[in-house]
Amino acid sequence: MSDRANQLITDVLRRIHEAIVENDITYEEYQAAKQWFIDVGEAGEWPLFGDVYIEHVVEEHAFGNRAGSQGTILGPFHLPGAPLLDPPFELPHRADESGDRTRVSGRVTNADGRPLAGANLDVWQADAEGRYSGFMPGPPGGNLRGQVRTDAEGRYRFTTVIPGPYTIPLDGPTGQMTAAAGWSPWRPAHIHLIVSAEGYEPLVTQLFIDSSDYLDSDVASAVKPELIVHPEPSGDGGYAISYDFALASARTPAMA
Ligand code: BEZ
Ligand code: FE
Repeated sequence: MSDRANQLITDVLRRIHEAIVENDITYEEYQAAKQWFIDVGEAGEWPLFGDVYIEHVVEEHAFGNRAGSQGTILGPFHLPGAPLLDPPFELPHRADESGDRTRVSGRVTNADGRPLAGANLDVWQADAEGRYSGFMPGPPGGNLRGQVRTDAEGRYRFTTVIPGPYTIPLDGPTGQMTAAAGWSPWRPAHIHLIVSAEGYEPLVTQLFIDSSDYLDSDVASAVKPELIVHPEPSGDGGYAISYDFALASARTPAMA
């Protein structure tokens, strides 16, 4: 076993053992916890559980001091290979897609403000009812998923609908644990992005809609003030969101 594995496993087990003693955990509670571990596995919810309750600390610890824009959690609903969009850069959607239309635009720069041409923005989001294509009944495959590239001045734009807030699944063990603790299961409305460019650290982030409920009670603890955006009426019945992303230079691998 590596020293690292030994240290981590020892530390995590020690903290669990301490919690058992400090909270007077009974045999009945231990058996209930064991059944819950089994249920999470059988429901395939370990990735969901990790992304809801653990990932935000890993993200903050790994990237909290990084130069450039703030990131936040990836979550479980990204699908690689979304289509690269051509003008007019509209995220694929149903003909009768509900929700307020919005344009999202801005620039991608390096941490010093120099525009990055050809940067890629991989975008995915829930629909106005809070449903992700590929994971939830309703939206067809590929709905509201696409990629766009920045132009020579580092500018990007795409159009979409303002997403709705959503709950984590309520009927599975993660939702049941959340209810048992008396916590809110909601995530506030947000658009996910991975912004990447050659020579720079990929930025995994989310833009949160400022009018959404649950900004102060995100079950996944992923909201950061810097990531809250304000859709402005654009005069044509829709909205406009503007947001600039700054990427940190890629870390050079340590010399052996
Ligand atoms: C999401 O933002 O898509 C998400 C993040 C964590 C858990 C569930 C969903
Ligand atoms: Fe999400």
